[in-house]
Amino acid sequence: MRIGIIGAAGGVGRRLARKLTDHGDEVTGFFRRSEQEEVVVASGAKPVLFDLVGDGPDSLANALAGHDAVVFAAGAHGTGTDQTSLIDGRGVEKTIVAADAAMVPRMILISAMPESGRGREVSESFAHYLDVKKAADQTLAGSGLDWVIVRPGRLTDDDGNNRVATGLAVPYGRIQRDDVAAFILEVLHEPRLTRHIVEVVDGPSTVHEAVDTLVELYGTPHL
Ligand SMILES: NC(=O)c1ccc[n+]([C@@H]2O[C@H](COP(=O)([O-])OP(=O)(O)OC[C@H]3O[C@@H](n4cnc5c(N)ncnc54)[C@H](OP(=O)(O)O)[C@@H]3O)[C@@H](O)[C@H]2O)c1
Repeated sequence: MRIGIIGAAGGVGRRLARKLTDHGDEVTGFFRRSEQEEVVVASGAKPVLFDLVGDGPDSLANALAGHDAVVFAAGAHGTGTDQTSLIDGRGVEKTIVAADAAMVPRMILISAMPESGRGREVSESFAHYLDVKKAADQTLAGSGLDWVIVRPGRLTDDDGNNRVATGLAVPYGRIQRDDVAAFILEVLHEPRLTRHIVEVVDGPSTVHEAVDTLVELYGTPHL
């Protein structure tokens, strides 16, 4: 498969790029700062400089033409509410427009579990982040693309163990970035899983078993 990753130099993005290229997929890794090129190249992806804020959807559409899917793994990572709106919000809209224009059929969006703010005092900027993530989910869910929205729990940089718990709703918990990447790889290669929002945290099932169960329960059988 040919996969584009927006945010390919990021924590999940670079791990996903490595796993996909090891799997034999062809990956285009979009990154925004020239010093990140090395990280993208090291993952085996073809590097493409693209700034979700400063660049328009046309240049993204040109670079995405011929791809089978695009994964949105970018994020403002706490750099301010304006950046959150521009990257996690407007950036997702731009990616949808570009995928549509380039006739890229499938998009995977990394979102966030609404529970991540529940039961504790959250800052105004974190509440804003959750609002923006939810609005981006709504925009993608209302698009004509074949989409899957993946809501991971709290991300960690610990080594992955290839084990998760997943479903349409699971209790909030942590998950290794490495296992989120493994999960998205399986989802990308499972076309029967489409137009669903799935949550994922660390858990007992192998990633492969977990995605198989999702397909059994919620997959589109005729694909
Ligand atoms: N942290 C958590 O616990 C958590 C939980 C659930 C979901 N998530 C979501 O999971 C996703 C992946 O998280 P992560 O921690 O792996 O991300 P990350 O390490 O923060 O990486 C995000 C990447 O996006 C890039 N980016 C930011 N602005 C950009 C722009 N304007 N144009 C192009 N690229 C841009 C960043 O580049 P720069 O380094 O230049 O900024 C960075 O490489 C994010 O959407 C995040 O919101 C996070």
